[in-house]
Amino acid sequence: MNSYQGKTFAVVTYGCQMNVHESEKIRGILSSLAMLEIDDVEKADVVVFNTCCIREGAEDRAYNNVAALKKSKAENPAKVIVICGCMPQQKQGKYDLATKLPFVDIIIGTYNINALAQYLLLYAVNKKRIIDILDKPNSNLDSEFCVRDDATNAYVNIIYGCNKFCTYCIVPYVRGREMSRTPQTIYNEVKDLVQNKGYKYITLLGQNVNSYGKDLKEKTSFSELLTYLCTIEGDFKIKFMTSHPMDLGDDLIKTMKKEPKIAKALHLPVQSGSSAILKRMNRHYDIRHYYRIIRKLKHAMPNISLSTDIIVGFPGETEKDFNLTLKLLKKVKYDQVFAFMYSRRTGTPAAEFEDQIDEKVKNIRVNKLLRLQKIIQKEQVKKYFNKTYNCLIKFINGVAVGITDGGKEIYIPNYKYVNQNYFANVKIEGVRNHKLSGVIK
Ligand code: 5AD
Ligand code: SF4
Repeated sequence: MNSYQGKTFAVVTYGCQMNVHESEKIRGILSSLAMLEIDDVEKADVVVFNTCCIREGAEDRAYNNVAALKKSKAENPAKVIVICGCMPQQKQGKYDLATKLPFVDIIIGTYNINALAQYLLLYAVNKKRIIDILDKPNSNLDSEFCVRDDATNAYVNIIYGCNKFCTYCIVPYVRGREMSRTPQTIYNEVKDLVQNKGYKYITLLGQNVNSYGKDLKEKTSFSELLTYLCTIEGDFKIKFMTSHPMDLGDDLIKTMKKEPKIAKALHLPVQSGSSAILKRMNRHYDIRHYYRIIRKLKHAMPNISLSTDIIVGFPGETEKDFNLTLKLLKKVKYDQVFAFMYSRRTGTPAAEFEDQIDEKVKNIRVNKLLRLQKIIQKEQVKKYFNKTYNCLIKFINGVAVGITDGGKEIYIPNYKYVNQNYFANVKIEGVRNHKLSGVIK
């Protein structure tokens, strides 16, 4: 019996897939204390805010949502409010949070989330505010507990941290240096998820998955890890994110092409179409190199689904630079583009650059870019006609649908079977109103 048994908790998550997965671990930890999850942050006995600081917007949202609980905490002082993740891990983060949100009870960072149960138990005894930010991990960051959100796709960490130091990015400062999990640990986790828990997609996570294994005693490349994981028996596919164009080698393209268990989808953030901007971003590649990789990928896997991240309005970005980014979108024809206005992050080199771009200009540019991408995406639908994609078959609202590796849905109107949750080839025979329909081959 512990003092939290039977009490309720809610977890609020901001940011990337890494955070989404960490929140799954938080859920696992709180469930291991025999607590029950609810959605309502007002009612929950324990509320955990798992925060992100990649852009100002994410920080503002978290601040506002925590602040909104002030009244609920005043009415119920036994309520425990926790802030964890990237915001407190910033240099000034814990001081800012502690002073601006004095009613928050526990503030921890990115390196001690897996000790959340101990912090809660300590708080239950002492009733004293806990602020504990470590400057590096004191053990590995794995958690023995995890309650996953999704029953089809499971996130699995393969590498923590980042060594790249892109000049705009706060991640290396709040998540530390690269730390790979061993191939055996990952293999065991994936095998269990596929063979015992029925997962169809495994998404391997890392800030830069292509750096996988460089820090291990027994060096293993990312392609070697993928090949090893593909030896696991079962009807499943592997996805991964995020890839860095600098480290994405021919070996990975070969492995992706060769292994049917690797999804033919790739998220490859370019950030800008201008080599001058890429240099100032410290991305370690120029746009010609990026185009070369895209060509190789499309040549090896003509059906590959590509997506990217773009930062608009990085310091010094001219109209000419921005137009090069638009040109890139027209040339590559991504299936999906995530575009962000540059956000100045204290402590990063680019925050000190003098030629910051006006917010209004950033706004105009990002909207122009998104408008263009929308047109490109609409035109793209035509390319699916008469092509065959290996899809996960599911029933959605009673109708059979094949879902491509890139997430496109193909309706199968004449589906004669009762089975779902398996992979099959679907040939697209109809494209109407941007909706695809096809038959199982
Ligand atoms: N401002 C805007 N976008 C950023 N990203 C990272 N740092 C910043 C920043 N300071 C974007 C990049 C990255 C994605 C996860 O977030 O495009 O790929
Ligand atoms: Fe940030 Fe660059 Fe590392 Fe990605 S590769 S997490 S953008 S520093």
